[in-house]
Amino acid sequence: GKSGYDHFMLKEIHEQPRALRQCLRGRVSELDGDVTVPELGDIELERVHLVAAGTSYHAAVYGAQLLCDAGISAQAHYAHEYAISPPPIENATVVGVSQSGETADTLAATREARRLGAETLALTNTVGSTMARECDKAFYIRSGPEIGVAATKTFAGQQTALNLLAEAATPGAGDRDLVSALRDLPGNVQEILDESTAESVAEAYIDADSYFFIGRGLNFPVSLEGALKMKEISYEHAEGFAAGELKHGPLALVTANTPVFATVTGDGEYARKTIGNVKEVEARDAPVVAVTDGRSNVGRYADHVLDVPQTHPRVAAILANVQLQLVSYYTAAMLGRSIDKPRNLAKSVTVE
Ligand code: F6R
Repeated sequence: GKSGYDHFMLKEIHEQPRALRQCLRGRVSELDGDVTVPELGDIELERVHLVAAGTSYHAAVYGAQLLCDAGISAQAHYAHEYAISPPPIENATVVGVSQSGETADTLAATREARRLGAETLALTNTVGSTMARECDKAFYIRSGPEIGVAATKTFAGQQTALNLLAEAATPGAGDRDLVSALRDLPGNVQEILDESTAESVAEAYIDADSYFFIGRGLNFPVSLEGALKMKEISYEHAEGFAAGELKHGPLALVTANTPVFATVTGDGEYARKTIGNVKEVEARDAPVVAVTDGRSNVGRYADHVLDVPQTHPRVAAILANVQLQLVSYYTAAMLGRSIDKPRNLAKSVTVE
């Protein structure tokens, strides 16, 4: 049942601390912080193609950045495109990212990869799923069952598992700060759930014409995911952009009635440049909601701030998404939408 929550989606958002603890359990050494994932064996990754659809594709975009940071050539691909026309695959490990492990598009991609002789890995939530059975290896995110059509806890689980994959693939090069941030992750998510003001943000913009989400680096896939969640369950128009793309077209759509959600974590180059974009949309009278860890001064330019605890940049992108999940949820709830079963959508898309 829904354990007292109005919807499975809200229940699953609140299950994230537990789901993430499950994902990490036994995989991060208490002693030295080494990451070991027995299912992966001594995996060596030279070149990685991550194939996925929907929310899982956004996790794949996030994961590709982590692997590239670890010195592994990695790209995220839409599975439905990849299945028809894969790029050169020599020495590639093809990682199917799929909550259900049954998505026809993603299965078509991993099957094509196998046919071409690549090593395949299923990164999935569903033990014994078709993808888990067909791929050479299966790496489970352990999020528990997800009933709501909109993926929430499983996206966070995929992001977390992709961090483990990047660490496991670079033994010896382990990032201790990351490991300790991963250990703190479930508690940090809980803090957001306990203190979020997302409901009042949703209320403030309930009459918006459109919702825009911008971010750079790891916050780019978070912005794509923020927009997808908003579309799926609220039926409102929403778009996510790499913040740098804004002035190359989408800025023409920005008005006083299109709130812009800017995810800005850290205080480096990405933050500085995204703050520049925030100023551009403000000059067009757009309201700004900053999702931020407070390390930069983006809050100064924002109409609303959604806080995330300060942590490792990779983990910050997991936390920021939780705030965006809540904004979508409360927007859809106030609009009276069918949140757990949005119109026209199915939990598992088993036709191509
Ligand atoms: C979004 C959503 C879909 C799925 C997509 C892939 O909330 O649920 O976009 O993410 O259909 O599904 P899986 O991950 O099962 O392959």
